[in-house]
Amino acid sequence: MKNLSWGFILLVFSAFLLNIDAFELRKGQKTERISGSAGDVLEDDPVGRLKVFVYELPSKYNKKILQKDPRCLNHMFAAEIYMHRFLLSSPVRTLNPEEADWFYTPVYTTCDLTPNGLPLPFKSPRMMRSAIQLISSNWPYWNRTEGADHFFIVPHDFGACFHYQEEKAIERGILHLLQRATLVQTFGQRNHVCLKEGSITVPPYAPPQKMQSHLIPPSIPRSIFVYFRGLFYDVGNDPEGGYYARGARAAVWENFKDNPLFDISTEHPTTYYEDMQRAVFCLCPLGWAPWSPRLVEAVIFGCIPVIIADDIVLPFADAIPWEDIGVFVDEKDVPNLDTILTSIPTEVILRKQRLLANPSMKQAMLFPHPAQPGDAFHQILNGLARKLPHDKSVYLRKGEKILNWTAGPLADLKPW
Ligand SMILES: *[C@@H]1O[C@H](CO)[C@@H](O)[C@H](O)[C@H]1NC(C)=O
Ligand SMILES: *[C@@H]1O[C@H](CO)[C@@H](O)[C@H](O)[C@H]1NC(C)=O
Repeated sequence: MKNLSWGFILLVFSAFLLNIDAFELRKGQKTERISGSAGDVLEDDPVGRLKVFVYELPSKYNKKILQKDPRCLNHMFAAEIYMHRFLLSSPVRTLNPEEADWFYTPVYTTCDLTPNGLPLPFKSPRMMRSAIQLISSNWPYWNRTEGADHFFIVPHDFGACFHYQEEKAIERGILHLLQRATLVQTFGQRNHVCLKEGSITVPPYAPPQKMQSHLIPPSIPRSIFVYFRGLFYDVGNDPEGGYYARGARAAVWENFKDNPLFDISTEHPTTYYEDMQRAVFCLCPLGWAPWSPRLVEAVIFGCIPVIIADDIVLPFADAIPWEDIGVFVDEKDVPNLDTILTSIPTEVILRKQRLLANPSMKQAMLFPHPAQPGDAFHQILNGLARKLPHDKSVYLRKGEKILNWTAGPLADLKPW
């Protein structure tokens, strides 16, 4: 018992030391640029490296849907809306499809919310099919490659698998008609049927102005060691437990609910954003999907993200050195989270904080309006530019067909 309390005192004391350092750091506002290719890639300018043609679709595929439910503008899936707006006035846009490198179809498949704001993916496959049917019959470009030089924004939980439950998403698989297209999606997990090779993983949308308005003076020390707000169990959807977050969130709660270094709860306080700025580590465990807006919030607020989601593929992983910024903990190691985090040397923590303080890191996580150099829009364009030129093999021979328009669940084939 005595040993145990000494252990606690030592832990709390080392956390205190960290705060002093963090305090010093923030006063000096030290930042560190990521050396080597990663930093350079993050600051790339896509203008002049690609041309994008934006298909003009009837407003029932985009604007009308949004008019019906403006909540979609603030939802974590809103990237599909802002990317559309961004591209319309972007210098990479071309009005001449003959000179386009990429074709973009502005279809808002995630803007169908329940009264409580939960997104319903059930109409999405039919809507997407209908949009592809329309572009392929009104323009010659889809048939030329069957979508291989087209990209789509699909920000649902499991991307173009269009279901929020993993087993159902896996069973559906990626909508067959998108098999050759490039998918820009929030979902990222290695060796998963819902992430195909060549997809671009992006951050979820988090409202930039709102986060900005909650910034606290950088001189305020980080007095919270570990911070988390969110569900540990999802009793409604997973009454027996074990499926939700593959048990990782439950393990966080059961092991650390009484640990003074852990400020964790299901209650979402109004000071949530401020609290993250006063924390050294912010837990980013998987939920139903491996990703959540916490990751973006942690980076914006300079709180070291502790990523607990085995095999996660993080946003813009080819440009952002996530291993240097965050801490990765295997789902099975959650019971040792306290030891893992308290044994990270102070210099390592300080370096991660300096990297997080780098403005280009934060910029890449946001979809601001108006757009700014280096933001998530630009990172998506950089990702598309890096895939050019297209391989000759993407252009089909005359009469060649690869896609099967009748593949997939019967219900998806009904008109939208
Ligand atoms: C593209 O191919 C489909 C058949 O696969 C055809 O119905 C359609 O008319 C073609 N589009 C154009 C613009 O020729
Ligand atoms: C297309 O898919 C349907 C449904 O899976 C299947 O019955 C049909 O044989 C496929 N057609 C071709 C040409 O592979």
